[in-house]
Amino acid sequence: EQGILRYRGIPIEELAEKSTFVETAYLIIYGHLPDRNELKNFSDLLTEHQNIHEDMKYHFEGFPSTSHPMAILSAMINASGCFDLTLMKGGCSSQFDSHVAQLISQVRTIAAFSYRKSHGLPIIYPKKAYKYTANFLHMLFSQPYEDYELKPEVVRALDLIFLLHADHEQNCSTATVRMVASSQANLYASCAAGVCALWGPLHGGANQAVVEMLVDIHKSGDDGSKFITAAKDKNSGKKLMGFGHRVYKNYDPRAKIIKKACDEVLGSLDINDPLLEIAKKLEEAALRDSYFVERKLYPNVDFYSGIIMRALGIPVEMFTVIFAIGRMPGWIANYKEIADDTKSRISRPRQVYMGEPLNTYVPMSKRK
Ligand code: ACO
Repeated sequence: EQGILRYRGIPIEELAEKSTFVETAYLIIYGHLPDRNELKNFSDLLTEHQNIHEDMKYHFEGFPSTSHPMAILSAMINASGCFDLTLMKGGCSSQFDSHVAQLISQVRTIAAFSYRKSHGLPIIYPKKAYKYTANFLHMLFSQPYEDYELKPEVVRALDLIFLLHADHEQNCSTATVRMVASSQANLYASCAAGVCALWGPLHGGANQAVVEMLVDIHKSGDDGSKFITAAKDKNSGKKLMGFGHRVYKNYDPRAKIIKKACDEVLGSLDINDPLLEIAKKLEEAALRDSYFVERKLYPNVDFYSGIIMRALGIPVEMFTVIFAIGRMPGWIANYKEIADDTKSRISRPRQVYMGEPLNTYVPMSKRK
């Protein structure tokens, strides 16, 4: 009701201002802010594991260029488990720290490679000298003959997006990861399942759906008012994407931070995106409209994040992939909680069957 989000007790606003994605990932997975040594070791492990096995490159060739990068991401996370047999075992082994770093680091490499492949571009390898988010941008946008120019405000904006997505209690994908982990499936298999759950437009896929909605509104010449009317009509099949949340019945605190960052990034890159104006108008109109007020529907994290990502040059089909990279620490921490718990039991929801309790097999010739 109050719109509060904290990671391990630290307000999201404080982390957004002072921390980085890598430090926050450590906080979420290991339960405390790392000291200097712990952070260095964690960063070194991420760098050590940044390359994927060279043979994995050939797997990318098998996907049609029209593949959605979320499909490639989930398949390749699972496939990478095959290249390191120590990953196959469920639970938290002595190599768990290395597996964690491998997953966080390589999910970014896989994501960048899938983008390059689907656009017919040559793969760009990570650079040891670059930090986490800068390295991702380098792999996405550099060319073999020319390095991408890393602007600090762009790197910071993307790092902030990763950080704001890092964990969010028992949402659909995190609950999925826990469900799979409860069978003692390995970390990679569990997180690959999380990617699939995140993909849908009612969950992480909403960031893509928001921008597609804004583009449609812009193309139609509507200032947003016609769309608001349609979103209130249950028969229209339309929803105001990026609005509403199962838990927040108030402004999502991440949306507040992202909205401010959106203004700052677009300002400093001197970008005038008409979609930002439409989004602001939609928000204003919705927050005044009794339909949205009575149902406590406010902007969620996805409402403005897509506009920032567009400004950074990230294609719309990669938006949910960015969410998945950011959410990895939360999934891993939830996996660890299950794996560390010696009393953990397999998740097994009960079913209340509503059909015939007993029936006989009817031969085909006698069926109506
Ligand atoms: N636009 C229009 N009406 C909406 C919206 C919306 N975005 N969201 C909810 N409503 C309406 C519902 O139709 C329902 O109306 P009713 O009471 O007249 O039947 C009422 O508000 C309550 O909505 P529920 O669907 O019960 O809310 P629920 O908690 O099940 O769903 C959800 C939450 C999925 C986020 C929903 O608000 C939604 O679909 N939003 C748009 C998609 C979106 O932005 N998803 C991202 C969520 S954040 C995240 O996953 C990272």
